[in-house]
Amino acid sequence: MAVGSESMALVRRALKHLDNKGTDQAASTWTQPIESYIDPDQYNREVERLFKHLPLALALSLELPEPKSYKAMTVMQTPLILVRGADGVARAFLNACRHRGAQLCKHGAGTAERFVCPYHAWQYDIQGKLTGLYGASTFGEVSAETHSLTELACAERAGLIWVMLTPGESFQVGDWLGDFSTQLDTLNLDGWYLYDQRDIPGPGWKVAWEGYLESYHHNTVHVNTVGKFTIGNLTLHDTYGPHQRIVFGRRSLSELPNQPEAQWEPEQHIRRIHLGFPNLAISGVLGDHCLVSQVFPGPTPETTVTRQSVLAAKRPVTEAEKQATEAFSQIVLQAVRDEDYAIGAGVQAGLKSGANQAFTIGRNEPAVQHFHKTVASFMASSDVTTPCV
Ligand code: FES
Ligand SMILES: [Fe+2]
Repeated sequence: MAVGSESMALVRRALKHLDNKGTDQAASTWTQPIESYIDPDQYNREVERLFKHLPLALALSLELPEPKSYKAMTVMQTPLILVRGADGVARAFLNACRHRGAQLCKHGAGTAERFVCPYHAWQYDIQGKLTGLYGASTFGEVSAETHSLTELACAERAGLIWVMLTPGESFQVGDWLGDFSTQLDTLNLDGWYLYDQRDIPGPGWKVAWEGYLESYHHNTVHVNTVGKFTIGNLTLHDTYGPHQRIVFGRRSLSELPNQPEAQWEPEQHIRRIHLGFPNLAISGVLGDHCLVSQVFPGPTPETTVTRQSVLAAKRPVTEAEKQATEAFSQIVLQAVRDEDYAIGAGVQAGLKSGANQAFTIGRNEPAVQHFHKTVASFMASSDVTTPCV
């Protein structure tokens, strides 16, 4: 469906719910055992299966804006370099020298002609190939075949760079995304401007992630931030295998029936949130701004680190544009750090109290249900790209 007609269809769905005080619903409530939030063995198995053996979107394409751009970072205790080769292809390497393991690049981004190890000065080209050895005549036998950087499977699609964190495992990005790829394409993520990026500590992975999946809490938790713009407890829900799209109604939706349909600008009255399993949320909250969130499990079940990327439709130039972008940046920081994760910290603190043996996920929280069902489905399957649920 073309984006314009799909927008109209979404607006009609949302208006129907607005009339009936309704929302998309799951068939029944869902019971999620507390054990699944706190059991350390289950946690370790899930991190391994879902984060180390499925492709993750680790960066936006625009973070590697030109050939020779690189970004060095650590994701879940794994040091990485993402680099766009002179050929324009994005690649991913473990940021560990093949001599005795020093990190080649400090965390950060820039451009590089080559990577030179700070320990004993082995050199690698930006395609990861070992190209030079300090004191080569004294060292002994090593070669590019055996001692080039360890490459991770990497693919670029829909403005995102997808990486498999386990060396030696491959994936087909088209298989992984399926129809979700078309949905992501509607965002034109390549064309945005990266205004800010920051890491936010949060509660455990499932507690943190659930907050991205429903609007049931918007009128209470976010009454002074994003809740000012969205209609609480009205969510459209569509799934694409493990991935999901939810759509919130903006408060302006209620004005639409007073206007002739020919004048409707549907995208002004809804917000699409794209949820890539297991940890990627792309959400537009206000006008020409977009928030990309990657929620990474911490070393224990109680913590996460969320990388927030604040995007603007274009580089803010005028004072008004700068103010609007900074206001968006602050509102999403506040909404997530001071509201969602403050509530989440309380949830996390009480998980082991015995107050609940299980959580009841409502019919009005279908995306939360789909998430938990998807986790269970992948945990029951070792096939990397099995579509599930
Ligand atoms: S550890 Fe890199 S050259 Fe020795
Ligand atoms: Fe929230």
